[in-house]
Amino acid sequence: MATTADAKVPAAASRRAAQLRAEIAQHDRRYYELDAPTISDAEYDALFRELQALEVAHPSLRAADSPTQRVGGGRAAEFAPVAHRVPMLSIRTETDTTAGAAAEFDARIRRELELPADAPAVVYMAELKFDGLAISLRYEGGALGVAATRGDGETGEDVTANVRRIPEIPAKLAGRPPRVLEVRGEVYMTRADFAALNERQRAAGARLFVNPRNTAAGAVRQLDPAITGERPLHFFAYGIGEAEGWEPPATQSALLRALEGFGLPVCADRRLAHGAAELAAFYEQVRARRALLPFEIDGVVYKVDDLALQRQLGFRTREPRWAVAHKFPPEEMPTELLAIDVQVGRTGAITPVARLAPVFVGGTTVTNVTLHNEDEIRRRDLHIGDTVIVRRAGDVIPQVVAVVVAKRPPHARRFVMPTQCPECGSAIARLPGEVVARCTGGLVCPAQRKQALLHFAGRRALDIEGLGDKLVDQLVDGGLVHTAADVYRLELPQLAALERMGERSAANVLAAIAKSRRTTLPRFVFALGIRHVGEATAKDLAQHFGSLAALMDADEAALAEVHDVGPVVAAAVARFFAEPHNREVIAALRAAGVHWTEGAPARRAGGRLAGLTFVLTGTLPTLTRDGARALIEEAGGKVAGSVSKNTDYVVAGADAGGKLAKAEALGVAILDEAGFRRLVDQRRAPDAET
Ligand code: IVH
Repeated sequence: MATTADAKVPAAASRRAAQLRAEIAQHDRRYYELDAPTISDAEYDALFRELQALEVAHPSLRAADSPTQRVGGGRAAEFAPVAHRVPMLSIRTETDTTAGAAAEFDARIRRELELPADAPAVVYMAELKFDGLAISLRYEGGALGVAATRGDGETGEDVTANVRRIPEIPAKLAGRPPRVLEVRGEVYMTRADFAALNERQRAAGARLFVNPRNTAAGAVRQLDPAITGERPLHFFAYGIGEAEGWEPPATQSALLRALEGFGLPVCADRRLAHGAAELAAFYEQVRARRALLPFEIDGVVYKVDDLALQRQLGFRTREPRWAVAHKFPPEEMPTELLAIDVQVGRTGAITPVARLAPVFVGGTTVTNVTLHNEDEIRRRDLHIGDTVIVRRAGDVIPQVVAVVVAKRPPHARRFVMPTQCPECGSAIARLPGEVVARCTGGLVCPAQRKQALLHFAGRRALDIEGLGDKLVDQLVDGGLVHTAADVYRLELPQLAALERMGERSAANVLAAIAKSRRTTLPRFVFALGIRHVGEATAKDLAQHFGSLAALMDADEAALAEVHDVGPVVAAAVARFFAEPHNREVIAALRAAGVHWTEGAPARRAGGRLAGLTFVLTGTLPTLTRDGARALIEEAGGKVAGSVSKNTDYVVAGADAGGKLAKAEALGVAILDEAGFRRLVDQRRAPDAET
């Protein structure tokens, strides 16, 4: 124990050290034994460094049982102990996330090796720092004998039965393996497998996993190997422990190649680096593409490549001097959950949103995070006032992944779903079997009206430039617009009188509105904002029915015949068009001049221009190139870029050049716009609308 009676150590320092040791021990237990950490790595490192600093300042505080003297990590009681004949050490972690830390490491190595300033660059192996669980695999006579976790570095846990379920770990080594070879590396889970697993958990209403690392660690440290077998785990070898009957290669790079030769997976993403500049370049380069890697890493590792130099450098208490882990900025950070508000979406969906104390994570400051729905909040056991772990990896939207239950203040309270819509006061209902609660106000609810309008005006819908949140808020709140059709009745003075508008912007908005009158059927159907009908479904519906009238009159059975439309979508579409209010809005839109070109139903029209290939050339009198193309494609024809003997028709306008000449030479039929229109019309199905 620490000699707390040491007269030279201030009482406050020894109290703080004791407190830090207790906290670190608790976090170690949560991390290593329960696989349920409650603080981020960055927070843990901060505690650890603080304790180290205190012990350096007051050496008498350095107790033998201090976490700084251990390799880290304990053992769970349920697994048989495995003594590591060569201790499984961890490495010094450099938390300075600037490339400068690479230069510092190189300088330290050169100092320790007493290299003169003009000595050539030290060669390093630069590797990824996989964020998984360290594992030792002991092969005897080439066969996997024992697999163990690191444990406290001296003694780990026997997880052989579980590790045998990891397909990438060979039961037998290839080639001519040594008598004994202990391979060390990391078990991990890919991001995609993790996401799929959590999706399954979500669907089953089960507990969500926090991150791939903990999930992989938890899967390896399962008492039931069958469960490990169900989790998709992978492995990368990065070093060795004990070896007998083998002269290991002279360098880390050759060692990794030898491990590959034995049939072990070694990450190809590694590089020899000459000196500090190349280490720093590797760091920056990997950091830039970190989010694109299929698995998670929390930094890179630099190792002196020459194993003889490694031996010369040797070890400090718990760390080798020849390696360092250079961390990236954290993708997970703790912060306070200040409140949970709800937002109302276009379809009335009520989404709880976490308001957070601003936290810098994954390269941006995060203050709001959607919590999806009530069940999600319950599954995460979130209370308002909690300290939560926020995660933002790459450009993925930030998430709340865990709560630090240990830090829950007494005033923390549960989230209660409001019973009334915060926007319109209508009742909020959650239907049996649905996860989402909804405002029942429909288009009475201004929030839903606003969202519906924004959707209608969106770039992929009717594309009304300038009709954004601010304007829609004013139009709806001021009672100028109730439905999308009202947009087409707006007049210049009304718009110009709005805040931050002026004549000029008002005129621009009006021009955009006017332009939007001419659209396409798929865009119009998408713009209606029918539940479950995204862009692709809108296109399928438009193509299948050919006209809005046919779509509006289709019953559920007819709708379900459409490619990719199931019963849920069919019911939603039928319900939408059965609603008189919606039919009124559509009629009003058409009356306001919104129009598009319709065709015949695609099913019957499949053959209309089907099998015919067109080439367009020159300028047509009234049709644009895109317009002509749309007519052809709507009718099942194909448009090719160049004339060949497979071309059926060339549609030629003014200034047609080489294509026309070629068509003439090949004897391909040539149409002008009038001829082309006749061809399309004559083939048009009799029931089509125009
Ligand atoms: S070498 C004595 N190489 O990071 C050196 N470790 O403290 C032993 N890790 O939990 C470690 N990727 O499991 C090494 N390419 C890599 C690594 C790596 C991840 C883990 C290791 C340990 C921690 C290092």
